[in-house]
Amino acid sequence: MTAYRATLIPGDGIGPEIMRATLAVLEATGVEFDWDEELAGEAALNEVGTPLPDATIESIRHTQLVLKGPLTTPVGGGFRSVNVALRREFDMYANVRPARTIIPGRYEDVDIVLVRENTEGLYVGFETTIPIAGDPKAVAQSIAIVTRYGCERVIRYAFEYAVRNKRKRVTIAHKANILKAVSGLFLEVGRAISSEYEGRVEVDDVIIDACAMKLVLDPSQFDVIVTTNMFGDILSDEIAGLVGGLGLAPGANVGDSAALFEAVHGSAPDIAGKKIANPTALILAAALMLEHVGEPDAACRIKSALQRTIRDDRIRTADLQGSATTMEFADAVIRRLS
Ligand code: NAI
Ligand code: MG
Repeated sequence: MTAYRATLIPGDGIGPEIMRATLAVLEATGVEFDWDEELAGEAALNEVGTPLPDATIESIRHTQLVLKGPLTTPVGGGFRSVNVALRREFDMYANVRPARTIIPGRYEDVDIVLVRENTEGLYVGFETTIPIAGDPKAVAQSIAIVTRYGCERVIRYAFEYAVRNKRKRVTIAHKANILKAVSGLFLEVGRAISSEYEGRVEVDDVIIDACAMKLVLDPSQFDVIVTTNMFGDILSDEIAGLVGGLGLAPGANVGDSAALFEAVHGSAPDIAGKKIANPTALILAAALMLEHVGEPDAACRIKSALQRTIRDDRIRTADLQGSATTMEFADAVIRRLS
């Protein structure tokens, strides 16, 4: 078996701690990776004077595959988000966020994959304020840009994901009744593409506000959801909440020239260095990476080992009211793997 070449960015705060745990779990699957370790974020700023070194970008250009810990972004001043810069640099247009029940709680059977458009919409940064009659901010405007090209590629990604992962249905979440141009185009393209998948994947569509409510009332009715950038930003945190919060939520950023796998949460400076962070989200991100490179069996084994450790063995980190350290938790997952 040849090793998969990939760029490894340990990250800031709890990043190196949860990355160590994640690498141990990955190694225990027997799937081999040839890691090129690179810097980004605060760690890079401190060591080489820039938050996103050229060497890191070059490495990703070669490997096209990244496992990344969380990166600290200074609030207010300081450097701009390295996460956003990486998504832009490699045009990673699909943000994939699965949410699945691990701990039985309020919701038993959540199994949703949200595919969020990652490059367009209201987040393109076309923003101005207009002064009128001495008020410098009398009017503020943010312009949403949605292209047919952008809609097509992310919607097609969602349907292809559904086919690959034997998912039944794709739900297009939109606001085409009010935002007739930008959301209307997304829905129109969605319906057109869905016809290519007739007989293979079901399709329906739902207005975004109703979608938010239905998710809370009965999340089990959803399968794959595809939506535009801002709606997806909001829904992805909502579905993370449905399954127990940030410590359990992985994410993938996928484009044609690179794919980057990470936890949804940040660098958690409040618990950094204490060795108590929950590595589950990053371990699940590594499982997504295994699926991406074509190792679905190893991914499946990781997910099942995680579920057994958390649910059956009740070995949990502090955020889930347990007392296991990061590495104790990882070791328990590894025992379940074998
Ligand atoms: P955060 O997600 O780092 O922390 C929020 C709360 O959740 C904290 O109380 C933290 O202790 C807890 N938490 C997060 N992950 C956890 C884990 N694995 N185990 C146990 N508890 C966990 O969000 P915050 O504090 O808003 O941001 C901190 C820094 O992270 C900022 O600089 C922010 O810009 C950055 N960030 C980076 C992201 C990325 O690299 N993708 C994503 C989100 C934030
Ligand atoms: Mg968000």
